[in-house]
Amino acid sequence: MTERPTVFSGMQPSGDLHLGNLLGALRPWVLEQHLFHNYFCVVDLHALTVPQDPLALAAKTRELAALYIASGIDPDSSTLLVQSHVSEHSELAWILGCFTPMGWLERMTQYKDKTRHSAQERISSGLFTYPVLMAADILLYRTNFVTVGEDQRQHLELTRNLATRFNHLMGDVFVIPEPRIGQLGGGARVMSLEDPASKMSKSDDSDWGVIALLDPPDRIRAKFRRAKTDSGSSVDMEAPSPGVANLLDIYRALTGCSQDALTSEFQGIGYGQLKDKVADQVIAALEPIQRRYRDLTADPVGLDAILARGAEAARGVASATLREVRSRIGLLPPSGSGPL
Ligand code: TYM
Repeated sequence: MTERPTVFSGMQPSGDLHLGNLLGALRPWVLEQHLFHNYFCVVDLHALTVPQDPLALAAKTRELAALYIASGIDPDSSTLLVQSHVSEHSELAWILGCFTPMGWLERMTQYKDKTRHSAQERISSGLFTYPVLMAADILLYRTNFVTVGEDQRQHLELTRNLATRFNHLMGDVFVIPEPRIGQLGGGARVMSLEDPASKMSKSDDSDWGVIALLDPPDRIRAKFRRAKTDSGSSVDMEAPSPGVANLLDIYRALTGCSQDALTSEFQGIGYGQLKDKVADQVIAALEPIQRRYRDLTADPVGLDAILARGAEAARGVASATLREVRSRIGLLPPSGSGPL
């Protein structure tokens, strides 16, 4: 039997998971789970790049793991881990940071966007080196594909460049990973319902633009009813405005329908009807996730056992990669444990 390619991906346990996270990443993870050898990570160390309340961070870490499983990740066939439970992530990040030119990090648009309105004194150096830790996450597992939303493309390009640079300088150690973005049609960049020019985001000022995965059905419907469209009243599939295009994209991502089917379903229908149809799909998709989530969070001990098992499995692979890296760069092994 040929080995299945490896997928690694992760999400931060900060803020509430939203429809963009689901359609850009979590749903594709679930739908393609059987094709790959998977690592799905809760990246708690990345969350530390901005201030966090300690109790809330711990609770969110567990909640996010529960949401992965509630959405359909099978912890028996995929490895589910918390980033900080596998210390190899931090160690490789340090090493890779020493191979990363500052200029590469200064060009990261997410860093520039996140820091545009902050005083230099308030920005942590962790936020600046964030993409290096992300590269370490990915490269530790000899990852072939990284399934993410469109907003992570630049970070993945940096990961690829960094792996190529390291391999060139120190000899081939790392697999060069490929981004896997929008493969299922739709959902790679879900926009805010209130401002369709910006992406749906955990850090959105207003809650009206963001559908949280745990929002109750009436709240979801109300948010869609208020979604920004344009001054027209019915759908023109030839040239939908950004707000309408976003609603159509959400519908397409959830139903998996073709562009032709989308056109015949929506051409000429009123905006009110469009919003209701999309809300119906979203509510139907979230209902089973919310139900399973409630069951899972009622058993935190069971959840912690799953995470402990995941960390153990991940550590086996991560430590082998790190051992090779350490040896390539000349770090003396702890006594008796290496060939040098
Ligand atoms: P995070 O936590 O910001 O987002 C998690 C995933 O959700 C996707 N996403 C979206 N997709 C479509 N539309 C949106 N509006 C939207 N908003 C978010 C993101 O693209 C992402 O796939 N840096 C990563 C976490 C990370 C990681 C990794 C990912 C750390 N290490 C290694 C992959 C591999 C992040 O902050 O994701």
